[in-house]
Amino acid sequence: MAEESPPSILVVDDEVNIGRVLAAMLRREGFKVKAVLDGAEAMAELKLRPWSLVISDLKMPRVDGDQLLEHIQEHYPDTPVIIITAHGSIGSAVEALKKGAFDYITKPFEAEEIRAAVEKAVRARALNASALHGAGRGGAGSTLSGRYGMVGDAPAMREIYRVIERVASQPSTVLITGESGTGKELIARALHAHGSRADRPFIRINCAAIPSNLIESELFGYEKGAFTGAEHTKPGRFELADKGTLFLDEIGEIPLEMQVKLLRALQESEFERVGGIKTLRVDVRLVAATNRNLQEAIEDGSFREDLYYRLNVVPLRLPPLRERTADIPLLVEHFIEKYNARLSRAVRGVSEAALELLQRYPWPGNIRELENVIERTLLFADNDVIDEDDLPPDLKASDADGLPIPALHLPAPSGEGGLKDVIREATTRVEREYIVRALEETGGNVTQSAKMLKISRKSLQNKMKEFGLREESR
Ligand SMILES: Nc1ncnc2c1ncn2[C@@H]1O[C@H](COP(=O)(O)OP(=O)(O)OP(=O)(O)O)[C@@H](O)[C@H]1O
Ligand SMILES: [Mg+2]
Repeated sequence: MAEESPPSILVVDDEVNIGRVLAAMLRREGFKVKAVLDGAEAMAELKLRPWSLVISDLKMPRVDGDQLLEHIQEHYPDTPVIIITAHGSIGSAVEALKKGAFDYITKPFEAEEIRAAVEKAVRARALNASALHGAGRGGAGSTLSGRYGMVGDAPAMREIYRVIERVASQPSTVLITGESGTGKELIARALHAHGSRADRPFIRINCAAIPSNLIESELFGYEKGAFTGAEHTKPGRFELADKGTLFLDEIGEIPLEMQVKLLRALQESEFERVGGIKTLRVDVRLVAATNRNLQEAIEDGSFREDLYYRLNVVPLRLPPLRERTADIPLLVEHFIEKYNARLSRAVRGVSEAALELLQRYPWPGNIRELENVIERTLLFADNDVIDEDDLPPDLKASDADGLPIPALHLPAPSGEGGLKDVIREATTRVEREYIVRALEETGGNVTQSAKMLKISRKSLQNKMKEFGLREESR
């Protein structure tokens, strides 16, 4: 069965304005949307034609969200339902999840959250459809690309697909590492959507975005009265993820004292809510991701080694885009197709010169940056073939602006050192140059330089010591 494109979404809410805001948000994302005012109207729409997804409020006149959910489960089991709940009424959301809702979103809406939930639902549905009907996903590339919603067929990616297949249905913890924008979250979702827990919740927590004093109650929940403001008992993400997958994103940013508690929860599969005495047990599949080098974090004392080993059962390292430039043409094609549809464009491809430029650029922001560049380019391109001049100027400047690495004095291959020694020397050289440059740019400010280099202050100090660079004393 072919996927209908763009996916169609039915929004059900009796508050006209809420439906309107949501519909506008989703249309902007390129979806086909219709908003109706209650469950009865929704049932009528469902009868008329198939929908990729239904997003519904719970409390509505005539037929409410619960009844609608039941109706859809019975008559249209392939159509996922996302429930809208008011902030703070998590209890009803959990009930809905138990009854088979795909996910829930809370009012007031966060565009990012909605986009993630919707994409996940649409993708899960597509996966189901192709599994049921044996159809490929079509679109850019062949069977391999487009797998799990991922494009790329470089050896490193094939290896990743192989691991996903092997472990998706296992309970083993997976630790995904890779630079920013390499697709860590996509992999985490693929692991869930492709595994035996696909129809249970996928719960994500971004450890970097939550203030450290709130992480514990977010993860483990709290009892009424546990602290001022705790007016109701609230389940944490571990409970919400029961029978499903818990995705600990940016795990490298979790504070040390929380690492101890997390470790205990993982080792013993049990925990207590904040302010609670009852020990709770859940069945959760854990996936963690980070763009930090955890080995270094262990060395500088900001990450516990025992937690690292507990998480790193199945390691998945995503290569930076510059290490798999062979995938760039495929990715470019994929994103052109995506943004042709979203922006109503008809770009056919890129010229050879443009492709060369795209393949030469080092992509520090990886696939996310490539995607943004293609979106921006399609927005402004006048011709149906993208040429060099249509690409953002920083792509062209990259050569001139980049760091000139002084020529290495390569020893004769017949001499003492082998390839490893040469590489070690080259790396050290580049590292030192780069650090010096950051220090120059910040006027010797270590904290700022560390931020720029995206390493911890402590590791920068260690490196400086190693390279004999002195910290300005002031
Ligand atoms: N192999 C791929 N094929 C197609 N799109 C991809 C691929 N990998 C990543 N993307 C897209 O690139 C963007 C960034 O991916 P994602 O958010 O998963 O990265 P991340 O590693 O979690 O980044 P960060 O560390 O910044 O959170 C997303 O829009 C995602 O859909
Ligand atoms: Mg991410």
